[in-house]
Amino acid sequence: MSASPRGIEIVPSVLPADFARLGEECQALEAAGADRIQWDVMDGQFVPNITIGPDVIAAIRPLVSVPFEAHLMVNDPDHMLGRWVDAGCEVIIVHAESTVHLHKSLTAVSDLGARAAVAINPSTPVDAIRHILDLVDMVLVMTINPGFGGQSYLPSMEPKLRELRQLVLDEALDIDIEVDGGVNTSTIADVAAAGANVLVSGSALFRYEEGLAFGIADLRSRAEAADRR
Ligand code: DX5
Repeated sequence: MSASPRGIEIVPSVLPADFARLGEECQALEAAGADRIQWDVMDGQFVPNITIGPDVIAAIRPLVSVPFEAHLMVNDPDHMLGRWVDAGCEVIIVHAESTVHLHKSLTAVSDLGARAAVAINPSTPVDAIRHILDLVDMVLVMTINPGFGGQSYLPSMEPKLRELRQLVLDEALDIDIEVDGGVNTSTIADVAAAGANVLVSGSALFRYEEGLAFGIADLRSRAEAADRR
């Protein structure tokens, strides 16, 4: 698998962060070298968990300059797309399974001036998004069933990753391939070798005894080494 021309990015998920000190945690992630911060937005319907709303993100926005992405694990995202952009998210990730008119939802994200991205759950095939790849800047391939951090990585997603990577190459698409779920020191090399260049890590990153900066650097170096395989 050829290396991604866009390079490796490490995107921490704040789901495992100390929600009593969320501002400080985001400042620490920025200082530690995060390329972007992922906000896991959950509505208790699309996934069996509820997390944060746009007002929380807006409150944190002025504390850091690192880009934000909103991973919308919510049903019917269209009516609130503008709220996530107004809160300061540069990237809006819409799940293919969460909206009847995915083409319309992704177009609405771009019309709002944000970078549109699409996420697919483990059971969703690449074919489900084949006809909207021209609308997105990134595809997020979930390697767990969304809703909670700390789950085990699904290696069965690697053929899907390779299929998506080949499709991106065949159609000469300039898009990122992101992976989220169970990315850690044991799995990140396989994820990068299979074609992902944007790696989300939550629980594994926050578990590093050496701290966030070491963790981000360690994950990045492991992914870059595998990306050259
Ligand atoms: C789960 C979220 C993930 C999670 C991070 O639904 O999408 O971003 O918080 O997963 P881990 O902890 O496996 O890195």
